[in-house]
Amino acid sequence: MVSSSSHVTLISAITLTTTLIHIVLASDPDITSDFILPKGVTLDANFFTFKDLRKAMQRNQTMPMHESFFKVTKASESEFKALKGQSVSLALLQFGPGGINPAHIHPRSAELLFILKGKLRVGFVDCENKVFMKVIKEGDVFVFPKGLVHFQMNEEEEKDVVAVAAFGSANPGVVVLPTSLFGSGIDSEVLVKSFKTDNVTIQKLISANMG
Ligand SMILES: *[C@@H]1O[C@H](CO)[C@@H](O)[C@H](O)[C@H]1NC(C)=O
Ligand SMILES: *[C@@H]1O[C@H](CO)[C@@H](O)[C@H](O)[C@H]1NC(C)=O
Repeated sequence: MVSSSSHVTLISAITLTTTLIHIVLASDPDITSDFILPKGVTLDANFFTFKDLRKAMQRNQTMPMHESFFKVTKASESEFKALKGQSVSLALLQFGPGGINPAHIHPRSAELLFILKGKLRVGFVDCENKVFMKVIKEGDVFVFPKGLVHFQMNEEEEKDVVAVAAFGSANPGVVVLPTSLFGSGIDSEVLVKSFKTDNVTIQKLISANMG
């Protein structure tokens, strides 16, 4: 016979397990309709079409983009309303010679990066501080696991790079580490102690990363 207290324990265990599974499987919430049409918007195929990447694609194809150029053009929920509730989005990444997408995190999604043109040094750091880094080229796909610090850099001196990043969230979010740490107004004392350095160094980092 099962006593009522062990019954309660069993129920708590099941509840806890279900909650944990829910947390582990957390992604964009499911919607209970095919799509979400904002008020005042006409429902036709145009609603499901996004054209804002066209202009970015028309960028000068023959000449390399200028030194250290880096640009992200997003097609996520805020730019493309039809993505709301669909759990997908993408971004067009363009790098000039020496261009870098600095260390950053997407809190709500893994990133699948497809190189359309050129070569890119990519890398991420796992929770054991192990670095996984590689140079990938045109036609290659690389996955950055969800929530981990990662970066991309064009090491070429003359060639540009074009890549597409796909996400499993309509709003993957981005935390750019240099801006988040030194461009957000965190108290300098916290930064001096966190980075075990002096205030002069911290002030330099702050002025380099303030918008
Ligand atoms: C292409 O690049 C060259 C040299 O930088 C520039 O003079 C020209 O205006 C560019 N063309 C376009 C369409 O941006
Ligand atoms: C660091 O320097 C800034 C600018 O001079 C100053 O406002 C701030 O109080 C200093 N912080 C520390 C922890 O010394």
